[in-house]
Amino acid sequence: MSNLNEVIQLATKEIKDSTNLDELEKTRIKFFGKSGLINQEMKKISKLNAEKKKEIGKKLNLFKNNFSIEFNKKKNIFEDQKIQEKIEHDFLDPTLPERSINLNSSKVHPITQTTEEIISILGSMGLKYVEGPDIEDDFHNFTALNIPLDHPARQMHDTFYIKTNKSNKNVLRTHTSPVQIRSLKNEKVPIKIFAPGRTYRCDSDITHTPMFHQVEGLVVDKDISFSNLKWFVSEFCKTFFNNESLKLRFRPSFFPFTEPSAEVDVNCSRKKGKLILGEGDEWMEILGCGMVHPNVFELSGFSTEGATGFAFGIGIERLAMLKYGMPDLRNFFENDIRWLNHYGFSCFDIPDLNWD
Ligand code: PHE
Repeated sequence: MSNLNEVIQLATKEIKDSTNLDELEKTRIKFFGKSGLINQEMKKISKLNAEKKKEIGKKLNLFKNNFSIEFNKKKNIFEDQKIQEKIEHDFLDPTLPERSINLNSSKVHPITQTTEEIISILGSMGLKYVEGPDIEDDFHNFTALNIPLDHPARQMHDTFYIKTNKSNKNVLRTHTSPVQIRSLKNEKVPIKIFAPGRTYRCDSDITHTPMFHQVEGLVVDKDISFSNLKWFVSEFCKTFFNNESLKLRFRPSFFPFTEPSAEVDVNCSRKKGKLILGEGDEWMEILGCGMVHPNVFELSGFSTEGATGFAFGIGIERLAMLKYGMPDLRNFFENDIRWLNHYGFSCFDIPDLNWD
C-alpha cells in the first residue's frame, strides 16, 4: 500500500518536472508501459482481500484519470512550443528566384489535348459534361444496354471481370455507354450529355490497347431523328478536324443498344506510314452511333414522354491519330519521352478549333 502511494507520488512529480515531449513519453512508459511500475502494483492486488481490492482499485482508477489529464495537458503545451519554435526559426525567402525548369519544355499528352478539344466542341454544341465510374456493374455495362446474359455481344467486348462477393458482377467498363444509363436513370427529357473517359478491353495488338479512351454522347428530346444524328456527327467531325470538305461514310452496323445503328468512317490516305486525313480513298472508322433502342429506355426506367434519342461513342485515340498523324496506337501508352516531346503539346496551348 505504501509502495503504491510512493509510485503515485513519483509519477505525479515526474510528469510535473518533465521539460519536453521525450521526457514525457519516457515517464508514461515508466509507469504505464507493459512492465511499468503501475502494472507491477496491479499484479499485487490479486493477493488482497475483496475489500482492499476495491479500495486500491478505486485509487488506481482515480490516479489513471489524473495522470492522463496531466499527461495530455503537458503534451499539448510541448507540441505548441515545438510549432512556435519552428515558426520562429524557419525562414522563407520570397525573393528567391523560381526553379529553373522551363514550362515550355514539359508537354501535355496528346490524349489530354484531344480530350480537351472534344470537350470544347461538344460543350459549344450544347451538350453537358458528365462522368461515370471506370468500375461498372454488369447491369450498367451490359444488361441495361440491351445486352442480356448469354448475348453474343458480351463476347465481343473482351471484358475484364472483377471478383466480388456480390452476385452482381463488377467489370472495368468496356465502353462509355453505361454513362447513358446513369443519365437516363437520373434525368428527364430533354437529356443532352457527353461523357469522356477511360475504357478497358482485354485485347492488345497494333490497333488495340487494353486501356483506351472514348467519349459518349446522348441526346434525347422530342422529335429527334436519324438526320439530327447525322448532322450532329458531321458537324462535330468537320469542326474537330478543321476540314469542311471531310468525307464521312455512315455504314449500317449493329449495336444492341441502338436501332438503327451505324459506324462512321472518315476518308484518309497513308503515305510513307503517315496518315493523312480528308484526302485519299481509304476509310478509317472513328465512331459508332445510332438511335437509342426502346429497350434501353425501358430497362433504365426512363419515361420517354414520346421523346426519342440518338447516341454515339467515339474512340479518342483514333481521333488523335488521325488529326495529328500518329501512325501507331501503342506509342500513346509507352511513356517514351522522345515520343512525348515530339507529339506532346505546350501547356500554354489553347485548343485551336478555328471557329468560323
Ligand atoms: N459503345 C459502342 C462501342 O464501344 C459505341 C457506341 C456508342 C455505339 C453509342 C452506338 C451508340 O463500340
